[in-house]
Amino acid sequence: MQKDEVLRLLRDPNLIHPEKLTLLSNIAAQAASLNMPCYVVGGFVRDLLLRQPVNDLDIIVEGDAIKLGNQLVKTYGGRLTVHQKFYTAIWHLPDTFNLEPSTLDLITARKETYEKPGALPTVTPSTIEEDLRRRDFTVNAMALRLDGEGFGEILDPLKGQTDLERGVIRVLHPKSFIDDPTRVFRAIRYEARYGFVIEPETASLINPESLSVLKRLSGERIRHELDLILDEDEAAQMLARVAGFGVLGAVHPKMPEFNQENKDYLEMDARLDVPADKRAMGYALWFMELSEADVLSIAARLDFTNELTLAVWAASQLWRGLPHLVGSKPSVWTYALEKLPLLSIYAVYLILRENDLLSYISIWRHVKPRTTGNDLKARGVPPGPRYGEILLRLRSAWLDGELTHETEEKELLEKLL
Ligand code: CTP
Repeated sequence: MQKDEVLRLLRDPNLIHPEKLTLLSNIAAQAASLNMPCYVVGGFVRDLLLRQPVNDLDIIVEGDAIKLGNQLVKTYGGRLTVHQKFYTAIWHLPDTFNLEPSTLDLITARKETYEKPGALPTVTPSTIEEDLRRRDFTVNAMALRLDGEGFGEILDPLKGQTDLERGVIRVLHPKSFIDDPTRVFRAIRYEARYGFVIEPETASLINPESLSVLKRLSGERIRHELDLILDEDEAAQMLARVAGFGVLGAVHPKMPEFNQENKDYLEMDARLDVPADKRAMGYALWFMELSEADVLSIAARLDFTNELTLAVWAASQLWRGLPHLVGSKPSVWTYALEKLPLLSIYAVYLILRENDLLSYISIWRHVKPRTTGNDLKARGVPPGPRYGEILLRLRSAWLDGELTHETEEKELLEKLL
């Protein structure tokens, strides 16, 4: 793309927040003063050329990124976290910048070598071209120059622009997925997000050899990729593709396919007062019909937090146990459900459409008697388990429709005392 057109896109406030552009110009000026070729790379360039709003700024310099970082902190404030071993720094922007995200990665252009497939790479400083060659896909391997006269020039040695125009996701070399099998998930994510296709030769590299490396990835790395998929609008479509490439079995032998009929349920309903955690909802829906042993084994493989494990486990337990609750009184529902995360209950409601689950979420769980422990104390009830029993009895009476007015509660309380 011509420089003029790039400059026009950079100035489009629908694509880049004007303050972000100012930040870019400031970085550019600082890099120029250090005679350091400086670029913004990766997703920023891809999304800009697609005329989509850009997010993260990943800054690469041919030179010492830490030096640039120190200079930026000196001039504009904020602070720096330095990773000497990787020649990178994170600039925590000054509060006055008021930008999201509030940090910025400053990276020294580097070469990466993978000593073992799937392991984290060894890094040595290098040129921007080499840096682009270490990347995942052609569409992510472009740089936009920032410093000096070059401001706005696109560096595209791997023909990323052609693939963007054709709508193609293509790796840079045949060993790409073996070096880093998380790229399998990334390819699938970009394909569905942009309505692209994974180019056939690239797709053929998602094969038993690269899947055997993927199998050895840590749970944390795989879960991170699945989390990113669940964050996307087209998550269900992506998960179908993950299954289609035979990735699920490589992650865990019992990983089920995501049921496509449930795709609309990945979006939480904001009207209900249920914590909106799209990822937890995704996993709860995905693993609901598994046995308890399989849920726990997959949760361990994916290095779920205890909280997430509980949410998924509770959904599958409730899904299985629901027939035993159907037809119960509201109080029985309420006391059974109260121990479970709200999100799990809502997930099961979405699948089984049992109205009593919704009644619990929107009404029953909020029902409390007017009488409090203090009232009982004032009435001279001696400390002990009777407090709980009386309050529970009153609450059940409200829940089950025995009480409809406060005076009735008072009458019942008199009987109980
Ligand atoms: N990258 C890579 N291989 C990976 C991860 C990242 O080559 N396994 C490179 C790509 O050039 C990518 C850049 O690092 O563009 C930044 O990575 P990331 O922030 O994860 O992706 P984005 O391109 O910003 O895409 P997204 O919109 O999905 O965040």
